[in-house]
Amino acid sequence: MIERRPLHFWVNGEEYRLEIPIYRLLIDVLRDDLHLTGTKRSCDIGVCGSCTVLMDGKSVSACLMLAARIDGRRLLTIEGLQKDGRLHPVQQAFLNNWGLQCGYCTPGMVLTAVELLEINPDPTPEDVREELMGNLCRCTGYKKIVESVIAAAKQLREVRSEK
Ligand code: FES
Ligand code: FES
Repeated sequence: MIERRPLHFWVNGEEYRLEIPIYRLLIDVLRDDLHLTGTKRSCDIGVCGSCTVLMDGKSVSACLMLAARIDGRRLLTIEGLQKDGRLHPVQQAFLNNWGLQCGYCTPGMVLTAVELLEINPDPTPEDVREELMGNLCRCTGYKKIVESVIAAAKQLREVRSEK
């Protein structure tokens, strides 16, 4: 008989209580149990960044993490970034600066950028490239993505200075 584990956690501000088999991966809980399909499964071995979500503000690969580890934690997925129908400044910057590419790499790129801008509100293009090193795009370049993150940083600094 497969051991099961009760979990209590939050995703995008919503509280969840689930009982899961101990081997279940976080990506399966998010996509199949909670129907949050913005988190993408691509390489499935922790190298592409498509499955990136934030756990207590830190990026993790949902394809590698056992869901049992999210007990008591707060997760943010791409679905939770917008507020009251308004895109997060990082999402808006990706839209405005042609940083949006396919639906596979973009959610992870955006969440990694959100993490970076929390730590470093004024990154250089090199800082952005370094932070996004674990988020791979198989089809095109990173120029517009880097420009988008720099634009988002500027926007966020302006918003914060108005408060
Ligand atoms: S699907 Fe998780 S890192 Fe690629
Ligand atoms: S993998 Fe997303 S645009 Fe290439």
